Amino acid sequence: MRSGGKLNLAALASGNGSNLQALINECEAGRIDARIAIVISDNPDAKALQRARKHSIQAVALEREKFGLREEFDSALADAAEEAGADLVCLAGFMRLVSPAFLDRFNGWVVNIHPALLPSFPGLKAQKQALDYGVKISGCTVHFVDEGVDTGPIILQSAVEVLPDDTVETLSARILKQEHLLYPKAIQLIAKGAVKPGSGRKAISHY
Ligand code: GRF
Repeated sequence: MRSGGKLNLAALASGNGSNLQALINECEAGRIDARIAIVISDNPDAKALQRARKHSIQAVALEREKFGLREEFDSALADAAEEAGADLVCLAGFMRLVSPAFLDRFNGWVVNIHPALLPSFPGLKAQKQALDYGVKISGCTVHFVDEGVDTGPIILQSAVEVLPDDTVETLSARILKQEHLLYPKAIQLIAKGAVKPGSGRKAISHY
């Protein structure tokens, strides 16, 4: 658990891991009072795992197919994060829902980043949902994870303008840039004790 005053993070990522990279960079630069203890992926080919190895961070692939019940998979995920001493689990493009049992193992200390201004456009393809709906402003949200899909208490949000000629690609790229600023900022709020889970919908007690 907390070592040298730093929050120990376990990051769960299925793909590219650009948000993971932003967290790694900010931790290494000392702008977040945290260290990434482990990166876990359900995809052995995830670039996120390569990024972790490049920074000498423990990188573990756990493939869903190798486990029977979902509970067994989730419990292996939680075991790996716990053995690495994680205080906080950061979902960073992890393409699976985590179970209530997983959340219990971390007493709610699990956060996620979502590419829309929740509660609008939860779930998959949030940027496409926003474009299809025709909103003029979208953005990204960092929130605690609860049992629903992108429904947990909001920690921070950042707004991004939707331009008339935006495609899913251009809008996603503009939002992703903001994600890379927002996620580290939210983790630092948690690391310095300004935000805690379990305090209702208003996750922030003081800045
Ligand atoms: C991001 O858009 C994030 O909001 C969503 O999944 C994407 C992951 O991107 N949850 P990356 O793997 O961090 O580049």
